Amino acid sequence: MHAIGIDIGGTKIAGALVADDGTILAEERRPTPATDPSAIVEIVASMVERLSEGHTVIATGVAAAGFIDAAQSTVYYAPNISWRNEPFRDRLRARLGMDVTIDNDANAAGWAEFRYGVARDAHDMTMLTIGTGVGGAIVTGDRLLRGGFGTAGELGHLRIVPDGLPCGCGARGCIEQYGSGRALLRMANEIADAGGIGHALAVAREEAGGTLTGGMLAGFLEDGDPGAHHALRQLGLWLGQACASLSAVLDPEMFVFGGGVSVAGDALLDPVREAYLAHLPARGYHPEPEFVVAELVNDAGVVGAADLARIHAESIGAAP
Ligand code: BGC
Ligand code: NA
Ligand code: ZN
Repeated sequence: MHAIGIDIGGTKIAGALVADDGTILAEERRPTPATDPSAIVEIVASMVERLSEGHTVIATGVAAAGFIDAAQSTVYYAPNISWRNEPFRDRLRARLGMDVTIDNDANAAGWAEFRYGVARDAHDMTMLTIGTGVGGAIVTGDRLLRGGFGTAGELGHLRIVPDGLPCGCGARGCIEQYGSGRALLRMANEIADAGGIGHALAVAREEAGGTLTGGMLAGFLEDGDPGAHHALRQLGLWLGQACASLSAVLDPEMFVFGGGVSVAGDALLDPVREAYLAHLPARGYHPEPEFVVAELVNDAGVVGAADLARIHAESIGAAP
């Protein structure tokens, strides 16, 4: 049975009609309206209506970048969007009249990789999405870990530096402040400020009117710029330390890296592995998990959200 997946990001909302083998049958993208939750409900509702036209659809799943409750209905808190206790499911269900579930964006992406992507043969995998924030998903014994209140897998908010940089979640020293796309830009700016290998970054920043963008940085990484690669290496070393601690808790057979920064591939994974091996408890005596980048990257959110919504609808016996 088909389901609709919606992925609400900071800049765009992606929607797709997804078949039950994970194939995308139709797709649509719209910019995210500034900060108004009801405008988002309107856009999502009209997307769902268009995508489902002429098809039998069992449910809609929404992936959102925040802490979601156990009932998959409310966004408790979103560090990088202005949602606070947002009852998104009920608002949307009232408009659509079909089963709706809300899931954390990284949980949806991780679930898609586990079902249809790079982790399809794994049973225990941990995913980190490296974008504006750092998202996490934990699959253990073939199940997505949701926790007691629904918010398990908020791996971006692991405290990695005691009293470190303040985070959008209200705490300090979270890995999100050292391992996200935003952190990468901050590090690149620091390297530009220091001169030396940061010279080319500094010149480009100057020419662009003082601001280094993610797109510019991606270009520098692709061209092998030493300053940009030094920043990426720092990022990877932080993430690898976090993975070493995660291994002590979850012991996954595979770590998957998704999100925009993961297109860097081995340039990201090499320092991750290096720091992981240096900090792993019982190192030298613990089997080494695989470190891989995501396969579905851009589509993971919509595919995972649709799949989780279908599973939920079937579990409650919802009819299309
Ligand atoms: C949020 C997560 C989200 C991640 C990636 C974090 O700041 O707390 O809920 O999954 O960003 O979007
Ligand atoms: Na998560
Ligand atoms: Zn945090």
